[in-house]
Amino acid sequence: MSSLFPRWMNTLPTALGLVGAGATAAAIGGVWYYFTPSYWEVGYMPTQPGNGFNHQIHAGKLGMDCLYCHTNVESSSHSNVPPVATCYGCHAENRMTTPTAEKVGFIREAYANDEPIPWREIHILPDYVQFPHLAHVNAGVSCYSCHGQIAGMPVVHQVENLAMGWCLDCHRNPEENLVPRDKVTDLVWVQNEWMNQPVEQRKYHGMTAETLAQSLVQDPPQHCAACHY
Ligand code: HEC
Ligand code: HEC
Ligand code: HEC
Ligand code: HEC
Ligand code: HEC
Repeated sequence: MSSLFPRWMNTLPTALGLVGAGATAAAIGGVWYYFTPSYWEVGYMPTQPGNGFNHQIHAGKLGMDCLYCHTNVESSSHSNVPPVATCYGCHAENRMTTPTAEKVGFIREAYANDEPIPWREIHILPDYVQFPHLAHVNAGVSCYSCHGQIAGMPVVHQVENLAMGWCLDCHRNPEENLVPRDKVTDLVWVQNEWMNQPVEQRKYHGMTAETLAQSLVQDPPQHCAACHY
């Protein structure tokens, strides 16, 4: 979605008008913006450059931790995708005999030219929404709750609609989505050992869903200004 109203408070009536009218497209300042209901974005899976990146192999089979590449998730509002140097560390010419040059040539080429690999963004929130990754990850919300079973995805796609109602559903009842802090990036464990249990039966080293919720520093916010500047 485009940044329609950065100073959204000022233009709220317009925004509601447009959304209410169910307008599919509108010309604003000569530029066309395209409005799509969020649920249409579930499943969004753009074609990635080169041979792409396979989470099922790296995070699943090889068991690499998410933080090895997404170094910012617990320290910054915005997450990040890794620079080509991270890939090159393993896929340089002289490091491994597999995969073939045909498969990882795009990494070596980008590295040699000192150019980033132009990964296409999948999860995108409008500019008028503030979403701090670090607060969620540090509170014990697993990547699994918002991004699905990434460790099983050959190609990442969007599994949640990222709509306002989705944020609020969890904010009203975080207990169901909290996991022990040291398990946040262990998506297979989260899915198979924690989320598959009824909330009241979840237990790990004396921690329960209830004690995790009680230990939150603050309740997840529901007032407008928490998420809208
Ligand atoms: C070896 C590096 C590496 C590891 C390990 C890794 N990722 Fe990624 N991740 C990437 C790259 C590169 C992209 C961008 C290409 C793509 O979307 O497939 C990406 C994309 C993503 C995206 C989509 C970002 C967007 O554009 O919206 C999510 C979500 C994600 N990773 C989550 C995870 C999770 C969760 C884990 C741990 C289970 C993980 N990643 C492990 C490298 C990695
Ligand atoms: C810690 C080492 C390591 C890092 C870092 C790493 N890879 Fe890999 N990668 C591997 C291994 C191991 C394989 C599987 C080799 C095999 O079985 O042939 C692999 C396989 C691949 C393949 C071939 C997969 C296929 O379809 O057969 C591609 C493409 C690839 N990696 C891209 C990347 C990219 C892009 C990055 C950076 C975002 C990256 N790798 C980071 C170790 C790594
Ligand atoms: C509470 C929900 C939530 C949790 C938990 C969460 N994410 Fe995200 N993630 C999002 C949303 C929403 C976006 C889109 C953010 C935006 O557009 O500002 C996103 C974006 C991303 C991106 C894209 C960054 C980019 O620059 O393209 C990556 C990578 C990512 N998340 C990885 C992770 C990893 C790894 C974890 C677990 C350690 C995680 N996320 C936990 C909701 C979440
Ligand atoms: C799966 C559960 C879950 C989802 C989904 C979720 N949140 Fe949260 N959010 C939390 C929890 C738990 C906290 C409390 C963190 C803490 O202890 O401060 C929180 C806190 C926040 C905060 C306050 C952070 C701070 O530093 O005070 C903001 C802002 C926020 N969320 C925005 C969003 C937005 C925007 C979305 C949707 C795009 C979203 N959240 C989706 C669980 C969730
Ligand atoms: C927990 C975070 C959160 C809170 C709290 C929140 N919003 Fe939102 N809001 C969002 C997200 C995320 C979107 C973007 C939805 C999308 O892209 O579909 C959004 C979108 C909107 C929109 C754009 C129209 C639409 O539905 O897409 C309006 C208007 C809006 N919010 C008003 C409000 C008002 C008024 C409040 C207080 C009563 C509020 N929001 C509280 C997260 C939040």
